[in-house]
Amino acid sequence: MSTRRKRAPVVTLIPGDGIGPEVTEAAVRVVAASGAAIEWEQVEAGGEVVAKYGTPVPDPVLQSIRRHGVALKGPITTPVGEGFRSANVTLRQALDLYACVRPTRSIPGLSTRFEGVDLIVVRENTEDLYSGLEHRVAPGVVESIKVITERACLRIARYAFELAERQGRRKVTAVHKANIMKLSDGLFLECTRRVAREHREVAYDEIIVDNLAMQLVTDPTRFDVLLLENLYGDIMSDLCAGLVGGLGVVPGANVGDDCAVFEAVHGSAPDIAGKRLANPTALILSAAEMLRHLGELESAERVESAVRAALGEPACRTRDLGGRASLDEFTDSVIERLG
Ligand code: NAI
Ligand code: MG
Repeated sequence: MSTRRKRAPVVTLIPGDGIGPEVTEAAVRVVAASGAAIEWEQVEAGGEVVAKYGTPVPDPVLQSIRRHGVALKGPITTPVGEGFRSANVTLRQALDLYACVRPTRSIPGLSTRFEGVDLIVVRENTEDLYSGLEHRVAPGVVESIKVITERACLRIARYAFELAERQGRRKVTAVHKANIMKLSDGLFLECTRRVAREHREVAYDEIIVDNLAMQLVTDPTRFDVLLLENLYGDIMSDLCAGLVGGLGVVPGANVGDDCAVFEAVHGSAPDIAGKRLANPTALILSAAEMLRHLGELESAERVESAVRAALGEPACRTRDLGGRASLDEFTDSVIERLG
């Protein structure tokens, strides 16, 4: 009789550029050490492949993610004001990864301005001012089109409420500027209210985005699940990261009905790229979220506890957290603590 082993899941690995290759390599090492059997299929995306394929996200990348359903991705640099369209935006739109989920939690032992922050940013990922529809109307006059659709608003609102229910969260807060953008943000609110009525066991409220910015830096513990359109979500995610230790520590996921791409909130950090100074925590925690998504719950927990244990010791911390450890020293500390 032959014993058949469960086949290891295959995950698409996109190293990205800047600090991307360093932090993804660290995450792959930690995943291997956690005991989770993952096979990686590495593909290249970003500025380097534009010359060859004419796009930063060539077909083999999309095909690989579609085939396996799951990817772990390093950040990719986007040229400012000119050049190719953001690889990140292209990927999210091509695969219809409509929900961007960023859990923002205080890390015990890491001293930051606030304690007990535990919020989840749920950002719509496919439309809004990221439609890429910009044109020059006349010399010195440019229009950028904000696209908001009922379909995208309803599905992101449903995603946020279902996530709140699944994770036993108490409240969803819809973030808007409908006092000014009465039609577009008005439609967003109409949809979030409709979905809120379908989920009465989760509390629901609304806040104007500028007030949210002020409230978050005053007392972030009053928020739970934040539901935002694309642009507000992008900006507020970075702000939220700053509340719990910065961009180096906050993980994320881009989720659609068929695929999920796990990546940190941060970008390619060109200022420290190649120096092995980057904090790989955000990508390691993104990999832990990926393990959870794949049903590898035990490995996910082990990785998260090991990261928390390492961050709890000042000597293990990287420079962004006031420490002196290199990326590799920090990664080794996490692996030692996997137990
Ligand atoms: P950034 O997040 O790359 O860097 C902002 C600051 O945070 C820099 O000082 C950087 O050194 C620091 N930082 C970021 N991640 C860190 C880490 N893991 N450890 C230690 N320090 C870290 O944002 P920036 O400079 O606005 O963007 C750089 C490039 O990244 C741009 O081309 C942007 O378009 C791209 N980007 C890509 C994203 C993605 O691939 N998902 C997301 C955000 C930006
Ligand atoms: Mg961003």
